[in-house]
Amino acid sequence: MKVHHIGYLVKKLEKAAAEFEKLGYSRMGEVTDDAYRKVDILFLQKDGYVIELVSPNAPDSVVSGLIKTYKNAPYHICYVCGDLDKEIAELSSKGYVQIDLPAPAPAIGGKRVCFLMNRFIGMVELLEQ
Ligand code: NI
Repeated sequence: MKVHHIGYLVKKLEKAAAEFEKLGYSRMGEVTDDAYRKVDILFLQKDGYVIELVSPNAPDSVVSGLIKTYKNAPYHICYVCGDLDKEIAELSSKGYVQIDLPAPAPAIGGKRVCFLMNRFIGMVELLEQ
């Protein structure tokens, strides 16, 4: 599976984006409000690397708990896969634990994503191509 992006949890999305721009990253599109997960999302790129800034926009956001632990930090790597359901089954048989149901990601053209946890490496995201 190819890497699609690194998910980066941030408390203040615009301030974080400005800092990445100082480092030479450029924005890919506009900020997207993911109403399902209650997060704002912005993709930036540099040298072929893609970073996804994720910031909670409601108290009951899916990352409201995580941000207390991680603060401003990378917290998942997203991998592109073919058949999402097949890949989830494959990784589940190898010790990964599915933590949400496959759902469309408005910030990635509505393609389906799913998150899994691994006890040794933390969170992994799968993106169906
Ligand atoms: Ni992501």
